[in-house]
Amino acid sequence: MKPKALITKKLLPEAMEYLEKHIHYEVAGTDQYPSKEEIISRIKDKQGLISLLVDKIDKEVIDAAPDLKIIANCAVGYNNIDVKYATTKGIYVTNTPGVLTDTTADLTWALILSTARRIPQADQFTKDKKYKNWELDLFLGKDLTGKQLGIIGMGRIGRAVALRAQPFKLKTVYTDPNRLTPDEEKKYKVRYLPLEKLLKTSDIITIHTALTKDTHHLISRKNIHLMKKQAMLVNVSRGPVVEEKALAEALEKGDLWGAGLDVYENEPEIEEKLLSLDKVVLLPHIGSAGYETRLKMSMMAAKNLVHVLSGKKPLNPVNKI
Ligand code: DGY
Repeated sequence: MKPKALITKKLLPEAMEYLEKHIHYEVAGTDQYPSKEEIISRIKDKQGLISLLVDKIDKEVIDAAPDLKIIANCAVGYNNIDVKYATTKGIYVTNTPGVLTDTTADLTWALILSTARRIPQADQFTKDKKYKNWELDLFLGKDLTGKQLGIIGMGRIGRAVALRAQPFKLKTVYTDPNRLTPDEEKKYKVRYLPLEKLLKTSDIITIHTALTKDTHHLISRKNIHLMKKQAMLVNVSRGPVVEEKALAEALEKGDLWGAGLDVYENEPEIEEKLLSLDKVVLLPHIGSAGYETRLKMSMMAAKNLVHVLSGKKPLNPVNKI
């Protein structure tokens, strides 16, 4: 008999076809994401679960599935899962590392450029037929050349962002609990700075750290006030790394020049003030949303699940069982 799994929401079609061949599955959510109660009521007899980053897989969900062997998260981040508790229950947790590095670094640069040059605002202005005359000061933005880019979190995505900074002729600094080797610093053309120094001296600050209890509100009100008045902040990692209310207030008061955000503290809710500020560009968490990448992520999650349910080790475990 094929093993049974719950999938919180459909993956891309190729991954669903692959799953069809190997397991019996149920999809919990259709247009809407399933509620926690719905997940709990449908997971009881399942051996596997494929979750997305919006599904909170906590102790209660895990306890509802006595036969669960694997939680395959279709995302590189896994802060939505109580990994510690899953581990005590002998359940593998897997993620999708590596495949979304480049596309997320590309989106970071799209957001840096859009915010600095006010591209979405200028696009809307043009579509609204407001372009009447060329003006010397129309949509004045920020030059990038020669500025300092500060990268917070120098993992895979932070490094890919640093490589893309080179042709833009930025000076790049980074902070991370694990310093790069001198050879790596040379390759990425980056210089290490402690967080406080990076915040005080950078013109563009971009966040690429995982969300953990140590990085929750890492960019706190106090730290936002260390940043230069002319600086801009970009976040494509996880919303709760930034104290969103404090960021909105700083932007409103002009204590910060601008911000480009792909993630929010209480997604999909967004701090109301941010919606009406002119030098803010907001995206709906599309960091890894390239078709090829999302397909690779879907296949990785599906394969991790099938591996474990057929008695093999997972391909991308984040815990040790
Ligand atoms: C991830 O995989 O963690 C990304 O945020 C998805 O876009």
